Amino acid sequence: MKLEDKTVIITGSGQGIGQETAELFAQYGASVVVADLNFEKAVAVSEYLRKKYQCDTLAIKVDVSNPDSVKSMIDKTIDQLFRIDILVNNAGICQGAVPFEDLDNNEWQKIINVNLMGTVNCIKEVIPIMKQQGSGKIINLCSLAGEVGGIKVAASYAATKAAISCLTKSNAKYLGPYNINVNAVAPGFIDTDMTKDFDYELGTVPLRRLGTPKDIANGILFLSSEEASYITGTTLDVNGGVFMK
Ligand code: NAI
Repeated sequence: MKLEDKTVIITGSGQGIGQETAELFAQYGASVVVADLNFEKAVAVSEYLRKKYQCDTLAIKVDVSNPDSVKSMIDKTIDQLFRIDILVNNAGICQGAVPFEDLDNNEWQKIINVNLMGTVNCIKEVIPIMKQQGSGKIINLCSLAGEVGGIKVAASYAATKAAISCLTKSNAKYLGPYNINVNAVAPGFIDTDMTKDFDYELGTVPLRRLGTPKDIANGILFLSSEEASYITGTTLDVNGGVFMK
């Protein structure tokens, strides 16, 4: 896979799956925008990658739920790196399982704003740029929970992830004629901060292990590559076999 001339924005790449994805793209020679709400972490990841892989990196503070903040992230990227070939909508928050009637509407609004509208805000801003370039790849982070319903997580989280899967298909249909591929990755149980308090029964996982951030980064990398150029509108399950379509 060749990514030397590609610029990628990865939201939520200050830690976890996003950080691992940023490292994999850097390893393949891409210019990497490390964008996160936590600017200190974004800077640390960006500097680490630049030193280790001698690639162009840029750390940006972004709140994906805020359209002005997203616009500023896109403007800074174009200003410094001139193009956006790949957008990875990875930033997300989770809410732990509670009885449905106890989940208040402010919590619903918060998770919709970050997970769903965050993805919408970023896609809206890159569309004109990718259309002008005549190419682009957009990868959204869904979830096993969005396919089977919340297991260890609230219904709100599962609902936002299911919505992102549908958004992926709608955007793939709309953007296909512009040579822009839109796909998603749906992780299963992955060992990150987001899931550190969850109890897992590995006996329910056919591959008998937790997934690693690298397992997910590999799926994202593939969908971002030219090798996946005839794939669009799909949600790639990376879940150790927990859910099979
Ligand atoms: P994490 O919690 O370790 O990292 C999330 C990152 O997103 C953090 O650096 C955080 O600062 C950033 N972030 C949060 N809100 C933001 C905002 N409004 N704007 C910009 N950045 C923001 O999470 P993890 O586990 O790495 O998850 C990454 C993605 O993968 C998420 O979309 C998550 O829903 C999804 N996912 C994770 C699974 C898992 O088992 N860890 C399973 C299924 C999906």
